[in-house]
Amino acid sequence: MSAVEQVATHGYLDRYDEALARDPVAAIGLVQGWMRTDWRALFAELRARRPVFATPAFTVITRYADVIEVLSHETVFTVRAFGPRLEAALGGPFMLSRDATAMNRHDKGLMRVMLPHGDVARVRALAGRLADEALDRSWPHGRIEAVHGLFRPVALGVCDEYFGLPGPDAATLSRWTRAIIADGFANYQGDPEVRAAGVGAGAELMAYLRERIAARRADAGGAEGRDDVFDRLLATTLPEAVATSDERVAVNMAGLPLGFAESAPGAMAEALGQLLLRPEVLAEAVRAAADPDTTRFDDLVWEALRFNPFFKLLPRVCERDHVLAAGTPRRTLIKAGTFVMAAPASAMFDAEVVPDPDEFRPGRPGHHHLFFGHGHHACLGAHPARAIICETLRRLLRRPGVGPLPPPEGEIVRAHAIFPDRFTIALAPGEDA
Ligand code: HEM
Repeated sequence: MSAVEQVATHGYLDRYDEALARDPVAAIGLVQGWMRTDWRALFAELRARRPVFATPAFTVITRYADVIEVLSHETVFTVRAFGPRLEAALGGPFMLSRDATAMNRHDKGLMRVMLPHGDVARVRALAGRLADEALDRSWPHGRIEAVHGLFRPVALGVCDEYFGLPGPDAATLSRWTRAIIADGFANYQGDPEVRAAGVGAGAELMAYLRERIAARRADAGGAEGRDDVFDRLLATTLPEAVATSDERVAVNMAGLPLGFAESAPGAMAEALGQLLLRPEVLAEAVRAAADPDTTRFDDLVWEALRFNPFFKLLPRVCERDHVLAAGTPRRTLIKAGTFVMAAPASAMFDAEVVPDPDEFRPGRPGHHHLFFGHGHHACLGAHPARAIICETLRRLLRRPGVGPLPPPEGEIVRAHAIFPDRFTIALAPGEDA
């Protein structure tokens, strides 16, 4: 039986087509549910049978080449899908809320300079220290709720010590980022409560940042010895042609926890979940975690994350008619106004590009990984984020007795269906760290 026939037996498309004829809203609900729970099997069938999957509500792009094409054409496939909600929260434009503007290029360039590659080793060490401190707090209990006991404390600690953004307190900063991201990226139905919470949190975050900018400017002399991103941004004197205002500093500072505080704990939880599902891989990860050369450990983390990436879909609006895969037999017209979801989670299993995609094979080449997006809006913080995610998991797996707990306790519980919010795992109780 060919691969195409095999995946066809899942029957998602038959069930969808039948449901669509009866009740389009229910059919779309079916697809949304499958994308959360059965995404690998669904996408495998779509790649084989309907790689550009048009529903009345959205069109899902499943092949690697097509996902790259969508994300490479920022003036055709724009972030209007979520940009206005982000702007409502931040009270102004942000690099991820607009496409191909002078603002994008200026702010991304500036922020790249503020997060230089040279920081990565320091940030990795910081994440390691924060992870060990969090693990020491759990050490006697014989188990750890990893999201709030480890992943979020590391992320918020990095926001504090590296970005220079502790928030009024970690819990408040965490509440703000969750509310803004939940509205921006998980509220396509437009739930008014989620919307109000996002806009309210954005206003509070921006007011806090404006107040911090004023305080840091007033305390310029007291900044000695501090070397965080916030101070660098305020201390940098730019020529007039490229100068930036305090309001732009505030928006770009807001973008750091917004880009990071949910996605890093999310990626840590999903990668760990996949490692714990595979006893032999887990045993290898434990061995690799003890090796000062972190290459093998990091490869295991990225291959694990491929099996459940935190960002499975990147939404875009098609602004004008576009022929996707032009010049190939698969050429497909995407009409202006279509709500498009590029699916990196599917692209990373496209056998045309990724050999034997269903095999767990650490060390795949970097271009097989689309965890951090691609093209115009590719992640600003990918290089520190990679180090933080891997080092946090490495410190965890250096502790004895890390293992899964049986369901329901050991299951990942998600908020808003996408944010890992609880994940309790076993950890040998002991006295020494
Ligand atoms: C230091 C940590 C991080 C920072 C400061 C950060 C910040 C950002 C920013 C500002 C953007 C928008 C870039 C633009 O519009 O040009 C972005 C995009 C993105 N980031 Fe990150 N991020 C971080 C970590 C992460 C992590 C851990 C993940 C996932 C594992 C992630 C996934 C993405 C993706 C997929 C996009 C593209 C979104 C799209 O194209 O719609 N980021 N990030």
